[in-house]
Amino acid sequence: MDDGTLHIHRIGASAGAEITGVDLSNDLSNDQFAVIHQALLDHHVLCFPDQELSPEDQIAFARRWGDLAIHPNLTGMNDFPEIIAVERKPGDSGHLGSEWHNDTTSLEKPPMGTMMYSKIVPQVGGDTLFANQYDAYDALSNGMKDMLDGLSAVHGDGRVAGPRAALNERRTNKTDESDAWRETINTHPVVRTHPETGRKALYVNIAYTLRFENMTTEESQPLLNFLYEHSHRPEFTYRHRWSENMLVLWDNRALVHLALNDCPTSHRLMERIQIKGDRPF
Ligand SMILES: [Fe+2]
Repeated sequence: MDDGTLHIHRIGASAGAEITGVDLSNDLSNDQFAVIHQALLDHHVLCFPDQELSPEDQIAFARRWGDLAIHPNLTGMNDFPEIIAVERKPGDSGHLGSEWHNDTTSLEKPPMGTMMYSKIVPQVGGDTLFANQYDAYDALSNGMKDMLDGLSAVHGDGRVAGPRAALNERRTNKTDESDAWRETINTHPVVRTHPETGRKALYVNIAYTLRFENMTTEESQPLLNFLYEHSHRPEFTYRHRWSENMLVLWDNRALVHLALNDCPTSHRLMERIQIKGDRPF
């Protein structure tokens, strides 16, 4: 790759690349964007340090990847409904996304990617952990792969929103927990094929997956519990340390992630945009 300035270097064994030499507040050329797009497919998490980005800049970069998603359970920023201010204030005992998950798999077409721009970062703590679900699938036995390849799972958002979730009291970000809220439920393959790379990735997560299709919750739970644990074996993970004014983009089709709940006295503020995805197959 030789475009003059843009540099990509790997920062994690299982996932993660840092990209420097590009200013995301400027329009990217098609060649620059093609290089960054391929980097997302190759490295799954891209990190752009030291970016000065307005909300409009973030939206412009996100739109290079596709249409923007409006979150079903969270309210966006006043002038920018596509941007969620993901915030943890001192004293909160919880925050969004503290369990391993792919984002919003309750949707028929979950986001293909999520972009976060760091505004306030704790001095220590508040890292984001990612786990590579191609690697998780590849590490399964052939017998398990054969069985999972034929299974689908039902996903819903009742653990993260609605009255049953009861999470709002502990955190700054509020989801709709009213009685009028209705759960969104969709069924996805347990092993999805990435629409761009053609690789297979494990695709169940504890935040949204309810059970295997055509099975009861009780029948499903033992194998789901094994898969949840397996999905974040240490060798599949990359732990991301934030600095302020860093933009991170990850591939929601190839990774699970969580925001570590380890900074109870700190303030953490991120601006997040999600990019619409396809129906998993
Ligand atoms: Fe998330």
